[in-house]
Amino acid sequence: MELIDGKKINAEVKAEIAKEVEEMVANGMKRPNLAVILVGDDGASSTYVGSKVKTCHDVGFESTDLKYPETVTEQEILDKIEEINNDSQIDGLIVQLPLPKHISEDKIIEAIDYKKDVDGFHPVNTGRMAMGLPAYLPATPAGIVELFRRYNIDTEGKNCVVLGRSNIVGTPMSLLMSRKAKPGNATVTICHSRSKNLNEICAQADILIVAIGQCEFVTADMVKEGAVVVDVGMHRVKSDKTKSGWKLKGDVKFDEVAEKCSYITPVPGGVGPMTIISLLKNTLLAAQGKIYK
Ligand code: GUN
Repeated sequence: MELIDGKKINAEVKAEIAKEVEEMVANGMKRPNLAVILVGDDGASSTYVGSKVKTCHDVGFESTDLKYPETVTEQEILDKIEEINNDSQIDGLIVQLPLPKHISEDKIIEAIDYKKDVDGFHPVNTGRMAMGLPAYLPATPAGIVELFRRYNIDTEGKNCVVLGRSNIVGTPMSLLMSRKAKPGNATVTICHSRSKNLNEICAQADILIVAIGQCEFVTADMVKEGAVVVDVGMHRVKSDKTKSGWKLKGDVKFDEVAEKCSYITPVPGGVGPMTIISLLKNTLLAAQGKIYK
């Protein structure tokens, strides 16, 4: 069994991005600028946004950090999005999800100029991705594809099962695995809460990608000998074995599943570190005009 080291690949990609930024600056171009809108004070969202902004600065980007109270109106956010859409100094814009109930996430996502939608959530980017056209790919699936690429994991003709059908992970992941590309060309099954015979389906997977949002959902009996297992889950659970009193766990029961795998991503240190760096890669592509002019 080999561990897929997301921290190591994150460091590699980060160094590559930082080098490209310095080359851009040396050629008289401006630094890429990512705008991040955060609404409310949810702890997890604030932490993610903090990490996104910090990583921007680590690679030499500028960031435009916009925070609003929970009570902000939908119109105020829409107005700000329009302002940023028209601001040539800003290359990419993301609105951290989830949003408070009185704000429509669909409306907000559709208001973002798809050319600045570095989250890859806008229907134009989703549609273009599905058609195999150049598009911003959503960060978590793009990060997983990058891990397969850098570990030379062969996906062609393989049986790939994706657990979970969210717009952010499961659905785009299934599209990327099935499309005519490398990595890709897999035979994909997507499973969700209404799926029957889940255990049997998972046990046939050469590649099992788990984004079901339930702590330690996947057990050893659901995994084929020699499978590649990717764990997107992230759950903070109480622990008396750590100094902080907390431990991060995934959607996969790591200890019993790992020994059956050819490759597995740990939690933490697997998929997590790839997500933010993929967002920054999209922002770099935006600043370079490599997806859209
Ligand atoms: N919330 C959880 N994941 C994401 C993400 O990738 N982008 C945004 N904007 N919000 C999120």
